[in-house]
Amino acid sequence: MKSPIPDYLHHVLETARPNEGGAAADYIETLANADTSKMAICLSMVDGNVYSAGDDKIEFSIQSISKAFVYAIAIEDAGLDQVLSKIGVEPSGDRFNQLSLERNTNRPMNPMINAGAITAHSLVVSPTATLDQRTERILNALSRLAGRQLHVDEEVYQAELKDADRNMAIGYMLKAAGIITCDPQEAVRGYIRQCAINVNVQDLAMMSAVLANAGVHPVSNEQIIPQTSVRQVLSVMTTCGMYDAAGDWVSSVGFPAKSGVAGAIIGALPGQVGIATFSPKIDERGNSVRGVAMCQQLSREMGLHMM
Ligand code: DON
Repeated sequence: MKSPIPDYLHHVLETARPNEGGAAADYIETLANADTSKMAICLSMVDGNVYSAGDDKIEFSIQSISKAFVYAIAIEDAGLDQVLSKIGVEPSGDRFNQLSLERNTNRPMNPMINAGAITAHSLVVSPTATLDQRTERILNALSRLAGRQLHVDEEVYQAELKDADRNMAIGYMLKAAGIITCDPQEAVRGYIRQCAINVNVQDLAMMSAVLANAGVHPVSNEQIIPQTSVRQVLSVMTTCGMYDAAGDWVSSVGFPAKSGVAGAIIGALPGQVGIATFSPKIDERGNSVRGVAMCQQLSREMGLHMM
């Protein structure tokens, strides 16, 4: 029997489409030129079935969604204790590009804001690794999660690098605070490279499904992320994944999620499904307007709220 899910996803997409709120991120030239009419949604079930609707092959840069997965990689490479000694787990309540260091420890408040993500990036492979080694490690890990080889979008990387003063400043502050020990420029360039990895909604839904499936890849059945890391990642996604909109998100949608400025959102409902949406126009907090609407509708109609 044909699954009713693709038609349902099409309906969710068309319900969100008339929402004209928000604007494409304008601080990265290539993102500002995005086609804002593009929209897509994909569900990847933990049993390996994948359903999508809309522009599901359109590629865009992963941006901040990479932070969730690089946090898992940092835990694997440096160990949870070392990661926790450098990065907190509290929501900052501030924008993603604020410094947001804890007063008593100097730790960035969480790994989902830029300061925490730059720190997590600096712990990948080892604190003395090169930018190329870290990029290769992250590209391989993300490709394995997606189930296909991913690539860096060099145009997005160069565009963001041209205007990286704020992230560079965060990098230097982290070095001065004793949180990162490598060259701050190297850490920030690597972080910007990880944000410029191209994906589509099918890749993201599959990556989220690994989180939803306790770290086991739904198709290959390999344990890709240790279960303890998955719990850590989903916890910080729940409290900090949608930035200063985390409270709104948890109450209206109710599953762990992460957004990126290119307009994608991922969600992971443990034991059930990995979700990904894409629509480039974002609100003032950095979350895709139509993506939030699609996730709210899915949560309401499919009963996905965890509480
Ligand atoms: O650090 C930055 O500004 C970007 N490369 C990533 C930011 C991002 O995706 C924040 N998301 N909503």
